[in-house]
Amino acid sequence: MKVRKAIIPAAGLGTRFLPITKSVPKEMLPIIDKPTIQFIVEDAVKSGIEDILIIISSSKSSILNYFDYSFQLEENLKNKSKFKDIYKIKEIADIANVQFIIQKKPLGLGDAIMMGKNFVNNEPFAILLGDDILINDHNPTLKQCIDIYNRTKSSVLGVQYVNDSDVNKYGIIGIKKNILNSVFEVSSVIEKPSIKDKPSNYAIIGRYVFNPEIFDEISKVNVDSTGEIQLTPAINSLLSKQKVYSKNIEGKRYDIGSKLGFIKAVIDFGMDHDEIKHELKEYLKSINDI
Ligand code: UTP
Repeated sequence: MKVRKAIIPAAGLGTRFLPITKSVPKEMLPIIDKPTIQFIVEDAVKSGIEDILIIISSSKSSILNYFDYSFQLEENLKNKSKFKDIYKIKEIADIANVQFIIQKKPLGLGDAIMMGKNFVNNEPFAILLGDDILINDHNPTLKQCIDIYNRTKSSVLGVQYVNDSDVNKYGIIGIKKNILNSVFEVSSVIEKPSIKDKPSNYAIIGRYVFNPEIFDEISKVNVDSTGEIQLTPAINSLLSKQKVYSKNIEGKRYDIGSKLGFIKAVIDFGMDHDEIKHELKEYLKSINDI
């Protein structure tokens, strides 16, 4: 069965980015003039996804508004003959079949994904984290996972190599077998290990493809010490029943949930932005000279 559906969890509190996330969802933080979540949706669409479910909280209605039509704004732009801008904003609302559901409490990633069970309706599906921008202009990053799913019919975790100093920030995979150059069969996932306990240096990043059986496993996960239902224990129980693969994703990653990741994205995309790239380069050169 084709992977047609994707869930984007975007209901987290974003505490690493307070105080701005008190009222602005981190998924709406602008990379120059586009919110983070648009990059994620574009990666899904370029990867062949047709239906997208975004999980939001009631305080994140700005995400819903962004993907809705905006008749008043369109009318205003029409009166000013700004037709290019009308096209630009309509294109966002037409990008895909985007639906929304509210996670009433931020009870963790596993709980957020569980909200998409009916939407998925027993099909294989993708997950893209709402704060992880991954860019590959030639081969969309979710598609890299979907291609492996199509060959194996097994769940696929998108991973990237991280340095020892970062393994304690991620779910790190244990490797059972090296299948292809960038594809491993996964033996286990250890959440935020110390360097001493790390099973490898491959960290799970914000792209996954799952068989629908993952929902049965999430439903059995107990709440952890922080009061959340995590995804990692569900992946480990899935692993005891089916093969799970990982794909080393080729592409540049920006973790927008972190301040440094965000600013790196703004600079890189600014250096590539037709309107500002020349002046930005000059500016960066000038501060580099100080
Ligand atoms: P994170 O753990 O990075 O998000 O979850 P967070 O909890 O919002 O961030 P911090 O650690 O407090 O700064 C990854 C993705 O899962 C979503 C987040 O919105 C983010 O896009 N998420 C997380 C949910 O949708 N619901 C949750 O309960 C938790």
